[in-house]
Amino acid sequence: MDAGENIILVGFMGAGKSSVGRLLAKRLGRCFVETDDLIVARDGRSIAEIFRAEGEARFRQLEADLLDLLRLKRGDVIATGGGFPCREGRMEALKAMGTVVWLASEFEALYARALRSGSRPMLEGKPKEEVAALYHGREPYYRQAHLVVETAGLGVDQVVRRILSLLRQRERVG
Ligand code: S3P
Repeated sequence: MDAGENIILVGFMGAGKSSVGRLLAKRLGRCFVETDDLIVARDGRSIAEIFRAEGEARFRQLEADLLDLLRLKRGDVIATGGGFPCREGRMEALKAMGTVVWLASEFEALYARALRSGSRPMLEGKPKEEVAALYHGREPYYRQAHLVVETAGLGVDQVVRRILSLLRQRERVG
């Protein structure tokens, strides 16, 4: 696998991007970076605080501001926030930075997992139907990824193995 190639994980909240990314990076001896963590490090506030104080639009601007920094990355595993790829031209930008992998699953499973783990401003006060609409609006962006891994019924370790095998296949073919 090309050591300089970034591996970029995309997918909806609850897809397991953080846990899969962390293990994938460990297996490959790479650095693991999360766009949310970069925003928190730059801004000094938590994601929840940014949403609360300045709203979603400001958070999306902070995401957009990260692109120049991400373009400097080499050989990292990068987990993106669920909304990060879902802007005009954003998937193209990510695909120019490395191999983009979509961690895909059914909405029901994603929703249940997203509710269980961590605070998520995009879920707060929203009925399930509204979150489902958000998911369906985002799917066409995720779908543009180079690789798709269906995670239903798989543990983190299995998902990582699947990604590694797809990456190796892609390298042989490409
Ligand atoms: C968001 C997902 C979050 C985080 C922010 C917005 C979204 O990341 O970036 O709360 O719009 O889907 P995760 O996908 O890691 O939960």
